[in-house]
Amino acid sequence: MGGESARSIGFAPAKAILIGEHFVVSGAIAIAIAINLYAKASAALAPRGSISISAPGLVDGAGPRGARSGGDPFEPLASMTRAFLERYGIDQGVDIRLSSEIPLSAGLGSSAAIAVSILAALSGLFGIRLGREEMFDLAFISERILHGNPSGIDHATSIYGGAIAYSPSMGFRRLSVDCDITLIIGDTLRRRSTREQVLKVQDFLKRNEGIAREAFERIREISEMAISCLEKGDMRGLGALMNENQALLSKVGASSRELDRLIGAALEAGAFGAKLTGAGGGGCMIAIGPQEALDGIEESIRRAGGVPYRVRMDKVGYRVC
Ligand code: PMV
Repeated sequence: MGGESARSIGFAPAKAILIGEHFVVSGAIAIAIAINLYAKASAALAPRGSISISAPGLVDGAGPRGARSGGDPFEPLASMTRAFLERYGIDQGVDIRLSSEIPLSAGLGSSAAIAVSILAALSGLFGIRLGREEMFDLAFISERILHGNPSGIDHATSIYGGAIAYSPSMGFRRLSVDCDITLIIGDTLRRRSTREQVLKVQDFLKRNEGIAREAFERIREISEMAISCLEKGDMRGLGALMNENQALLSKVGASSRELDRLIGAALEAGAFGAKLTGAGGGGCMIAIGPQEALDGIEESIRRAGGVPYRVRMDKVGYRVC
């Protein structure tokens, strides 16, 4: 047989939730930005009926839970791919190769970015102009299999890029943020399951109605104020709101000792604000601060046992090459 058939490449960014994780699952507004860490999928035609997905560079595949439970870690992505092919009446198989620079199971939306990168690659391969809403629905297929009851914010942010406000009932709103946003991420290196963290926090909220009511009321105000800070470029104000959000996340059991240590270290080094991002219980925290404090914040996180890195907001979302 001849050489390889042409491959189509898709990229999709990770996300960091600035405000509102967990509460968004029950309907609150969350705010997230896409960040410049990317998942990459390359897709080529394969014999009819064959969907092959491989990821030699990924530690435990795009579906860590599938891998741990002994199932096929790529089945959620294969289901999504089948749904794409069916929806567009494509009677062809595909070969998909994945790579990613996004830490897995760390709160940065790696599984969503991988799903979106596949959809981007498939749309390029078959010359289909996928609307963002269609892409959102399709990526939800694998996200639901992996995470149980996700809000949708991870893949929404990866698709749209930039800064978005999202709630399951309102959908997304792109925020007009002119400034560049730099985040320091601190990885605890402790991996955890989003699904289990979400169940744990939802259970806490159900059993503690008083705390839940107060927290939801405050989160509503925090989200509104955070949107206005972002649109005005008021990073100091945003930082104060992130700190308040972290206190609420701690109260409902989403944080961890390691996260608290890294958050404390970032604040000591002059961060405006620091909090866990994503499901918590491990994974990553984020900090924002003045330009001149960023080196110190990274160093402080390192000394506290975390792995720091610096990321910027991605303004574009997914790309097809
Ligand atoms: O940990 P991640 O990157 O999967 O983010 C989860 C965010 C939650 O709000 C906890 C769940 C969700 O679906 O919104």
